[in-house]
This record gives sequence, C-alpha cells and structure tokens, in this order.
Amino acid sequence: MKHFPREFADLLTAKGRRVLEGRAPGGALLGRDRFFVALSGAVDPAKARACRALLDAHLAPHLKILEQGIPLESIAGQTRNHQARLIKTVRVATAYLERRQSRAWRAAERIGLIAMTGSETWHRFAEILAGRALDRRAGRQVLCYRRGDYAGPHTDHHPEDPRARDGYIDMHLTLSGPGVAHQWLVYAEGGHFRHVLDVATEGGITAYRLPFWHYTTPLVAKRGREAAARRWVILGTFRFARPASEHTP
Ligand SMILES: [Fe+2]
Repeated sequence: MKHFPREFADLLTAKGRRVLEGRAPGGALLGRDRFFVALSGAVDPAKARACRALLDAHLAPHLKILEQGIPLESIAGQTRNHQARLIKTVRVATAYLERRQSRAWRAAERIGLIAMTGSETWHRFAEILAGRALDRRAGRQVLCYRRGDYAGPHTDHHPEDPRARDGYIDMHLTLSGPGVAHQWLVYAEGGHFRHVLDVATEGGITAYRLPFWHYTTPLVAKRGREAAARRWVILGTFRFARPASEHTP
C-alpha cells in the first residue's frame, strides 16, 4: 500500500461500516453522560498494519518531540500541605499538521493522510460516535508514542476558545506496532479516575467528548524490541457544528 485510502470507509471492516451507516447498536455513543467510547474490530487489521508502515517510513523523519516535564518548583515551591499542583506533563513525538508548508504536512499529503483525514467518511464516523453534527473542518495531528512516552493527567479544556469551551470531539485511530507491550488510557468518571483501557491496539478507534480528566501511561516495550516499539495515533479534532440559525448566507 503506497497511500492511505482516499476515504476512511475503505479502512473499515463490515462492523466498522455498520457503525458508519448508523446501523450498529448504541446509536449516539457519546450522550449526555458519556465522555468516551472505544471501538475494536472496526478497522481491517491488515490495512491498519499497512497504514502503520506508511507512517514509519514517511512521517517518522518529520516528527518533533513534545516534552513538558514535572516542574521542580511543583515541590520546591509548594508551601502548604496537600496543595500539590501539576501542569500537563507529556513526552511524545508529534506532527501537528496545521501548516501546509511544513515538511510533515507535505509528507502526510504524499501518503494520502491529509486526504483521508479530510474525507467525508472520516467526518461522518466522528459524527456517528459523537451523536451530533460536527463542523466539517477538522483539525489534524499525528502522535507517535515511543518507549516511555506518556501524557500525565490533563483535561484538554480550552476555555479561551469560544468554539471549544463548551466541549468538542477528538477521534483517535490507533496504529500500535508489535514491539509494544502495553500502554493504558486512564480516565475519570463521576469525579474519580475510574476506568483503565488498553490502547495499544492495531486499528482501534477511540472518541472523546472533551474536556474531562484523563492520562496515558508510559509506553512499555517488549524485551529486545525497545527501539522499534511505537504506537501511532491519527487524531481528528472536531468542533460542534453551529446551529443552523447561526449560519450566515
Ligand atoms: Fe488528552
């Protein structure tokens, strides 16, 4: 495979297509009280492996390291008991895919990733999971977790963005390689970190109705496979569609 398929639908299994067509049980998966959904078996495993090989070969050279460690002053500057404060800590390799002139964008365009993440069925799939209409213009990002890469507890809240402050949707397509032993997503519900989910999947789809508290544990590699252990995530960010009354002619 030299390209991602033009349409996201072409990566899907029969189960995935049923979801896309709104025929899978559950319907709107992210309802009033649901912030997260994970789907397995929706993406064809052989196609998922081929997509991962494309990212390894063409996008890996253009990744940047995003790193924000625990600030020393988070302990040294703490003056009162039980008042620890932690910013969003993270270490991961990423390509933001925001600027068309960037090398990462051009590499993603050459392998068809830009087209697929702009396709009708990528957007439609997110709408099905969200259970509501989403803005047709989606944001794109690629993440690559290597050994030890993680994201500490955070909310992904953007209160300064009027189109995101009341919530938005992230959809992740995970393409995890064979060198990965495990990586977990931990997320909160009802005021506690309550759920743990294996996200080292080969073609798993997850969707988030943000903001809510979550974190991703450090990626653990299989013995002897440390250098090759990678978990790729293709990420789409979708704002809610404006109500029809807000559209200008
Ligand atoms: Fe997050």
